[in-house]
Amino acid sequence: MSNSMNKLIEDRPIPYRAVIAGCGSFVPEKLLTNDDLAKMVDTSDEWITARTGIKVRHITNDTETTAFLATEAAKKALADAKLDPVDLELIIVATITPEMVFPSTASFVQRALGAKKAWVFDLCAACSGFIYSLSIVQQFLESGRYNNALIIGAETLTKITDWTDRTSCILFGDGAGAVVLERHNNGRGILYSTMASDGERWEALNCQAYGSRYPADKKLDDPKKIYMQIKGREVYQQAIRRIVQTVTDCLKVCNFTLDDIGMLISHQMNGRIIESAAKRLNLPAEKVFINIAEYGNTSAASVPIAFEDCIRQGKVKQGDIVILVAFGAGLTWGANVIRL
Ligand code: UT7
Repeated sequence: MSNSMNKLIEDRPIPYRAVIAGCGSFVPEKLLTNDDLAKMVDTSDEWITARTGIKVRHITNDTETTAFLATEAAKKALADAKLDPVDLELIIVATITPEMVFPSTASFVQRALGAKKAWVFDLCAACSGFIYSLSIVQQFLESGRYNNALIIGAETLTKITDWTDRTSCILFGDGAGAVVLERHNNGRGILYSTMASDGERWEALNCQAYGSRYPADKKLDDPKKIYMQIKGREVYQQAIRRIVQTVTDCLKVCNFTLDDIGMLISHQMNGRIIESAAKRLNLPAEKVFINIAEYGNTSAASVPIAFEDCIRQGKVKQGDIVILVAFGAGLTWGANVIRL
């Protein structure tokens, strides 16, 4: 019984796949360099560059919000896909820095785009949010239930950054990246997605105010709870372990060797984490995309921003296999294997 079930799942015919039809990204104009940070906390360009690979990050001003960044990235992705927003059927915004508690950031994006036909929601899975969202859209498009979807990873992490904590404030930047997916039967599209979570380790990365545990009208026992708190070393070790494990799983399930992979596009959390994971996977440097120097860690936005940069730089082309992989708060992690 269980054998025949497995066989059925493996041989499941997939009439449609979720194909990336367009991509776009948007970052605020204002820059914050390592030298700027060295004037704010006890750090240096040398330390930040050596330990993280980050040189500069884009940061929002007071009027730039998550929905604004998300909408700008979405417009570019829709133009790239040549899709009219009124024809959109589903919008997901992956974010941990939403426009407000509710309604969803996606509601504001829908309104700004005039995407009246779509149903919309936010997805909270921190740095893995974009990967999780792709896997959800994959189900809807493969089943034939929908024709298209827009996914945006958008964050304004610098609005919840403790600018006095040198161990975290050097890491983060703001931005948004988006992709339009359409269902097609042309050999391209998302081939496989895998996701995982470990709620036992929630304390490794968090921002505790102002949810139901620490509502806004109660005095916080620790005023720092309004900021992101990270256990850098723990995250560092877990990230390498989970990325290696997840990519290995992707190769095995898809029956691919390293030669089949055009590019690994990882969440940009720290250049050293990505390089270390790639080394353990025996992936050569030219098959690993890293753009953290220019953006810092933009959480859910980092994979789609990196994806777009990778495409625009001509490092991958139609027909190539790319693996998108991410790891973040929750803990959460996952990957998508895509034939472009
Ligand atoms: O997307 C997920 C979110 N990302 C993360 O959670 C980050 C993951 N972790 C990391 O990227 C790295 O752990 C960090 C970049 C945060 C830290 O790098 P590290 O190599 O793990 O350094 P460390 O925490 O072991 O600290 C080494 C030293 C310490 O000094 P002592 O104790 O050796 O004297 C720190 O106090 O570096 C010191 N340090 C700094 N020095 C200058 C920590 N932050 C800084 C800083 N500038 N900004």
